Amino acid sequence: MKYAGGVLLPTLRIDRESGRPIVAQLVSAMRDLVLSGVLEPGQRLPSSRTFAQDQGISRTTAIGVYESLAAEGLIVSHVGSGSYVSDILKAKAETISTEPDRHKRQPKRLANLTERASEQFFPRLAHPTKPRPFVTGLPALDLFPIPLWSKLMARHWRAARGIALGYPEPAGQPELRRAIATHLRANRGVVCEPEEVFIVNGAQEAFNRIGNTLLDPGDPVWFENPGPIGARNSLLSSGARLVPVPVDNEGIDVAAGLKAEPDFRLAFVTPSHQHPLGAVMSLQRRFELLQAAERADAWIVEDDYDGEFYYSGHPPPTLKSVDTVGRVIYVGTFSKSIFPGLRIAFMVVSSPLSEVFDRIAGATLQGASTMVQSVVANFIEEGHFASHIRRMRKTYMERHEVLIDAASQRLAGAVDVKPTESGIQTVGHLLTGHDESSVAKAAADLDVIVAPLERFCIAPIDAKGFALGFSTSTPAQIRSGVDRLADAIDSLG
Ligand SMILES: Cc1ncc(COP(=O)(O)O)c(C=O)c1O
Repeated sequence: MKYAGGVLLPTLRIDRESGRPIVAQLVSAMRDLVLSGVLEPGQRLPSSRTFAQDQGISRTTAIGVYESLAAEGLIVSHVGSGSYVSDILKAKAETISTEPDRHKRQPKRLANLTERASEQFFPRLAHPTKPRPFVTGLPALDLFPIPLWSKLMARHWRAARGIALGYPEPAGQPELRRAIATHLRANRGVVCEPEEVFIVNGAQEAFNRIGNTLLDPGDPVWFENPGPIGARNSLLSSGARLVPVPVDNEGIDVAAGLKAEPDFRLAFVTPSHQHPLGAVMSLQRRFELLQAAERADAWIVEDDYDGEFYYSGHPPPTLKSVDTVGRVIYVGTFSKSIFPGLRIAFMVVSSPLSEVFDRIAGATLQGASTMVQSVVANFIEEGHFASHIRRMRKTYMERHEVLIDAASQRLAGAVDVKPTESGIQTVGHLLTGHDESSVAKAAADLDVIVAPLERFCIAPIDAKGFALGFSTSTPAQIRSGVDRLADAIDSLG
């Protein structure tokens, strides 16, 4: 609507008590009217004299408001014919919705892959940030040697030169790649060159990179059922077609995998400590899996997320240690062995595939914090890592024993908590007729966190139960957690 004397602006209000300059108040209010489309492109504004009278302000102030708006390009002034809302905003007005909740709406158009993957994602689990019985995925945060860590950090800052402040090496800092290669050889039987070790911001990033590099949309991927949620979601977002493969007490059932999909492109496994059921993959299965991958010309991803912790005298063997042809991509993380907020993990990719990963890392400017990588390298090289692992192994062994003992007393007949030989979590099989999620909810009401097995499944399984972490809580907290879990189950009748 055109007004001979320019549009009326009855909604403008000046707050003279606010202390904010009048020009600024009016510019901001007018800007909102223009950008929200209330004032349309081409619409005539009152003359500065009329505007001054309408608003009860001086002419100079009114001119100041118009000049500011003109400087922002929101209005234009023509000598002799007055001021108008800028036409430049026309195109914008046609495409931008003026609905007040437009910022809250979801983006309309996602990439097909993301759209499909997000449909398949299960509701996101809360990140485990707060130690509570029986949260999984968190180490004993209270026992981490923070004074030592801050000393190492301070040492690096004191010596910081350009190299520490610049961009990191895309594949990882050489000193950390060397330290990890040495550590893996001695502790995990993995023989590799530092150039085959890639530093990443968490194992999750390794899974994303592997999926993006080795998979095309629709490629069949063997995935342990049940299996880890984060890795599953990474592979789905790479477009993988996940083939659920059952697991038993020897690990992944290779024969069942071959029956379901002999031409798989990649197999994702947790051989040292099946996640979440806890089996260590037998040697027989390791060779069967390597042979099946060789026949299908497939890759294998080994997720060794908590194999540093073992309780029976021998570390669980890695699959990579018996991989003579370089089919296995080994992924390790410091999230359990140092702390997850570090966001440092690594993958071992054998040559010649390592050259591809190296090129991609360089071309896409990847890399993790230079300073943090150097501190981790020192932590390992100076023996602190080995001492910390040794100390934690003892702590976790004790916490594991307390859990098994308390459960045998308080949860007998309700939850059968299985002893584990390695890792920082175990499985408890639900023996009552309740469904897993009701128990989990009743337990959460008592501040006890148990993760139902169904969350880890991409196809139904016979077992019912929970993943139970035992690393974050003290023995007293574990006992109290077991009591509360028993109370939660009792409360369901
Ligand atoms: C099976 C499994 N793999 C890997 C990780 C570690 O992931 P990140 O290194 O990204 O913390 C976790 C974390 O809980 C896990 O449960």
